[in-house]
Amino acid sequence: MSQFIITTSPTLRNTMLNELNAIDASCRCEKEFGYGIFLVSFAADQAAVTAEIVRERHTFIKHVHPVQAEGRLRNQLSGDLEMLKGGIGKLRLEAGRPFSVQVRTVENITYTAKDLEVLLGRHIEQTYSIDAYFDDYDIPDDIGQQIIGLLIFRDAFFMGLGSAAESLHPVSDPCRIFSRGPVHVSRAEFKLREALKIIGYRPAPASLAIDIGAAPGGWSFVLAERGMTVIAIDPADLDGPAADHPNIRHLKMKVEHYTGSEPADLVVNDMNMDPTDSAAAVLTVGRDLKPGGLLVMTIKLPDGTYQKQVADVIEILSPQFECIDVRCLFYNRREVTAFFRRVGNVPKVVGHRTIRQRPQR
Ligand SMILES: C[S@@+](CC[C@H](N)C(=O)[O-])C[C@H]1O[C@@H](n2cnc3c(N)ncnc32)[C@H](O)[C@@H]1O
Repeated sequence: MSQFIITTSPTLRNTMLNELNAIDASCRCEKEFGYGIFLVSFAADQAAVTAEIVRERHTFIKHVHPVQAEGRLRNQLSGDLEMLKGGIGKLRLEAGRPFSVQVRTVENITYTAKDLEVLLGRHIEQTYSIDAYFDDYDIPDDIGQQIIGLLIFRDAFFMGLGSAAESLHPVSDPCRIFSRGPVHVSRAEFKLREALKIIGYRPAPASLAIDIGAAPGGWSFVLAERGMTVIAIDPADLDGPAADHPNIRHLKMKVEHYTGSEPADLVVNDMNMDPTDSAAAVLTVGRDLKPGGLLVMTIKLPDGTYQKQVADVIEILSPQFECIDVRCLFYNRREVTAFFRRVGNVPKVVGHRTIRQRPQR
């Protein structure tokens, strides 16, 4: 028997619960906290459930952490800290492996999640002599560190020990991490920053990106700021610093009318369009992506069977692209983010499995 805190987008809850059922038909949703956050119990033990979640990389599960300690709090910092230290005493922290504490608070409490991360982190450092990461930006991508996940909902807490790979997201609270700093053009910027972090994408110097459905220009701006030249295709205007950024070339047209042929290193697509139409439109630009080049695309999900819509996109793109991952990111609402590689002389992709066609469940 094991318990996990599992999150998804609120609109995708039923599909995510179906995914959990496919892992273990006897799993039970013990509590729904709202905001797409669930406490779920499984008949199998933590290691078996975790292995299955990581192996299958289910699309609609955003974030996971196990629950090995829970209890009540009083919304009063010093007393609550003692309770939480008691919870940490129940975890099997390994000496010599660095750790981070990742706290999420669902409703207002009188102290912040960051307060707890620092106070609990210092307590663990002193008590167990293990190094802490206090800032998620510092956490290396190939993380071997232990992650203490903590959810606080009203007067209840749920705590457990896992790793970044097991949590399906390299940061604890993407809202806090990716929303840091100003919005330059649009909040859509956060979505691309998160996607690039997940896939570990770093543009080569002097590389070219094609941004389809670019307006008002948030994604183009993110890429331009990373040194890429960006061809931004959209019939609508670009705004703010994207409008006159020296790295951004705006083609004010629908993608269906694009006739360019410059070899691109990256194609991104955030068009608000039916998934199959969006995939078909990508094929007109996809021919310009260099072999092995990356395509990042949001799949907007209208009503219907979400798994089928994702499978249809993968199928339409399959002559040109191999799907390497499809994920419901923190910033995805009624959509998921898909990552593809242009086929051709495709270099071996390390660290991501190739998905040819997801089975429909
Ligand atoms: C969600 S917005 C994109 C936001 C953008 N990623 C950002 O960061 O600012 C969707 C955009 O898709 C564009 N779009 C819809 N159909 C299109 C088409 N056929 N060709 C090009 N752009 C299209 C819309 O004009 C709209 O600006």
